[in-house]
Amino acid sequence: MTTPTSHPVTARAHANIALVKYWGKRDAADNLPAAGSLSLTLDALTTITTVRFDAALADDAMELDGAPASAAVLAKTSRWLDLVRAQAAISTRAAITTRNHFPTASGLASSASGFAALALAASRAAGLALAPRDLSILARQGSGSAARSIYGGFARMHAGDTSDAAYATAIDGDAFAARVRMVIAVVGGGAPKLHLSRDAMEHCAKTSPLYAGWLACVPGDLRAAEDAIARADLPALGEITEANALAMHAAAIASRPAIIYWQPTTLALCAEVRALRERGVPAWATMDAGPHVKVLTEAASADVVAGALRAIPGVSAVSISASGGPAVIE
Ligand code: DP6
Repeated sequence: MTTPTSHPVTARAHANIALVKYWGKRDAADNLPAAGSLSLTLDALTTITTVRFDAALADDAMELDGAPASAAVLAKTSRWLDLVRAQAAISTRAAITTRNHFPTASGLASSASGFAALALAASRAAGLALAPRDLSILARQGSGSAARSIYGGFARMHAGDTSDAAYATAIDGDAFAARVRMVIAVVGGGAPKLHLSRDAMEHCAKTSPLYAGWLACVPGDLRAAEDAIARADLPALGEITEANALAMHAAAIASRPAIIYWQPTTLALCAEVRALRERGVPAWATMDAGPHVKVLTEAASADVVAGALRAIPGVSAVSISASGGPAVIE
């Protein structure tokens, strides 16, 4: 094992929102998803991360948004860095600086953009030149949704039979991706204690009588979503997006004890999205491990959708995001 000191490498990646959700693992140790998933990478949600391997360091060090990372985050990141060190045949410790550029107080999860940026910066700093597929595997080992943020636009995660086959690929659909927008409505105030998606999906898989039904609907939803993207058919993609999110949440709600991410404002937003559709505005809702609502729409309707969502009591911020690009070295 060598212990070189590397130049700092900075990478940028964008978060993604799943249109067909990842919810459940078949192997927790290697972070293997139980099923595939499909997402849209968003330009407005960005993480920028710098990594330097430094022979003078006795331990890994990590700064997150200007403050030292918690012991738990550092321990998880250190275990993940061991995977990079093993691939690069080095033993050097690393210094990581990472910053999230998300809409103010968005309350949106950053693990997807975080591990995508980290996978690119850390692998390069360690002297590795990984192909997108291997970067995606490395990002997945940090966080499942991060595997998709290696790519811009629409991305498809493959469950694969083995760890080496569980990675995401880009979906050919850039012209369509350029036409769509995601309107993000942040539900603020009185948020209940958040269930971390990692713990919540495990609890759901173990206790929800609806988990098997959820898993059974994913392959058909993936096929329908990919077909819709191939045809650039926004209404078809929107219907799958909303139905798939509701199926995931139904399984989570049926967990024992229940996992309920929704607040009254979440449901008011869903009703407003339905009302918009009835008035002929293309809009479909999706929710993740929190109360916020993300609405898939087209560029020409994004301002109308954002205005309607802003008027709902309990909404603390609304932003519009276009499709984002892949993870890149800065
Ligand atoms: C609801 O990728 O955060 O956002 O692999 O345990 O880190 P880990 O889980 P994570 O789960 C994301 C769950 C979701 C749906 C999705 O993004 O597909």
